[in-house]
Amino acid sequence: MTNVVLKATADVENPKTGIENRKRLAGNLSALLADTYLLLVKTQGYHWNVVGPLFVSLHGLTEEQYENLFEAADELAERIRALGHPAPTSITEMISLTVISEDTGSASAEDMVSNLARDHEAVVRRLREGVEIAEDLRDMATADLLTERMQFHEQAIWMLRAILAK
Ligand SMILES: [Fe+2]
Repeated sequence: MTNVVLKATADVENPKTGIENRKRLAGNLSALLADTYLLLVKTQGYHWNVVGPLFVSLHGLTEEQYENLFEAADELAERIRALGHPAPTSITEMISLTVISEDTGSASAEDMVSNLARDHEAVVRRLREGVEIAEDLRDMATADLLTERMQFHEQAIWMLRAILAK
């Protein structure tokens, strides 16, 4: 019985799908999951705290964006699991992996928009590197997932910047 359980665990950690260096891919995905999660927290915080003339547009846009980020975090984590690695579950670990800084102050609505646009840009740059890593390791499923994520973040940048355009 114990041997069967051990074998099942080993099989979960070692899918024989022909992908080399699953550890590197999982590390790459973990960093992108951390970016997604921290950006989700910041986006939802702004959704709650925004005030002023931009309230209606920014309150609505941030809701759409944090819902997307929440679903994306699940997809990224499940891709890590499909590669046989554990997904990060600690916020402390995610903070150590992310390029997104926390915002604990009370930014103006304009600064919220600028901060989010800048953060989405940073995530797009990381995603571009991530796609290259996935393509180099011939992990098409991860490359597809990250390419789809890049499209969301690029659209988010456009929509945020359009709010501030004069
Ligand atoms: Fe809400």
